[in-house]
Amino acid sequence: SAPRLILGIDTSCDDTGVGVVELLPSGSVRVRANRIWSQQVHARYGGVMPELASREHVERIDEIMGAALEEAGLSVQDIGAVAATSGPGLVGALLVGLMYGKGVAQALNVPFFAAHHLEGHIFAAASEEELQAPYLALVVSGGHTHLFDVPEEGKYVLVGATRDDAAGEAFDKIARLAGLGYPGGPAISEAATRGDPDAVPFKEPLQGQKGFEFSFSGLKTAALLAHKAGAKPEDLAASFERAAVRFLVKTTLRAAHAYGRGTVVVSGGVAANRALRAAFAATDLHAVFPGAGLNTDNGAMIALAGAAALHAGRSPSALDAGAEAYAP
Ligand code: KG4
Ligand code: ZN
Repeated sequence: SAPRLILGIDTSCDDTGVGVVELLPSGSVRVRANRIWSQQVHARYGGVMPELASREHVERIDEIMGAALEEAGLSVQDIGAVAATSGPGLVGALLVGLMYGKGVAQALNVPFFAAHHLEGHIFAAASEEELQAPYLALVVSGGHTHLFDVPEEGKYVLVGATRDDAAGEAFDKIARLAGLGYPGGPAISEAATRGDPDAVPFKEPLQGQKGFEFSFSGLKTAALLAHKAGAKPEDLAASFERAAVRFLVKTTLRAAHAYGRGTVVVSGGVAANRALRAAFAATDLHAVFPGAGLNTDNGAMIALAGAAALHAGRSPSALDAGAEAYAP
């Protein structure tokens, strides 16, 4: 039979993302398009304004979907299934993409899948290699630091999460403190190449813990003190990046050994970090990362999650599926 084309939509926060993925009968997938509109209106407020985010999604989504179809060289009639994020995220923002996706699915009379944003982040790595459970999944973004065990396809067991800030949030806050700009992740990463990682001593968070939790507030406080004591921004960046990377990798490695897993999927915005990728590559784990442009929020990752649901034979979602701020 012919390949199926899946449209994926993510409007969970301040990015309007639409992607198209091709699913072959064998289960292999190919990203055909990935278009993102990153909202600029929030910059002057120093944080995302939920109501403005919803309005921007409404204004942009048609255009972004058109651009995605054009990039894939398709017309909307070629689409064989639609997936849209139903949560977690900002409810008003989520509703835009969710309702839009349902409308497209209904108009085309094709299956609709409500997708979990974190499952989308994990399936972003399916662009690189077929994900075969069991594996561990570390989702590290601006809003999440979640470590899951995936014992079988579609089953997610939370192994550990952050007690305070998300990993990306720590990168963003420390970058702001050091005057390195926004988003903080890439800014820290770039400054770190010019800094001394031994300049600022950071203590490993939660040292000696038996579990697999994360915490970044201690590193943030230590960074603030070092900054006040006159540490150079690039030294702060290099020292913090190394400490954060070591902590993430060490905790994941302990969990992998405890759960007997040999593969880890690392995804979310922070998974774009080069030092993190290098540190995972130096372990005995097989680490899988999303392809370029698929780490931060996007629509293709939601299409990839939809493709996996379709291939696994999961039933489509009901068209009255709601948006959820805190999806389980
Ligand atoms: O996945 P994402 O777009 O948004 C959420 O769902 O939260 O992730 C954005 C986060 C930001 O905090 C950003 O600073 C971080 O990912 N980030 C990075 C890098 N690129 C983006 N952190 C570290 N190193 C990077 N290269
Ligand atoms: Zn995200």
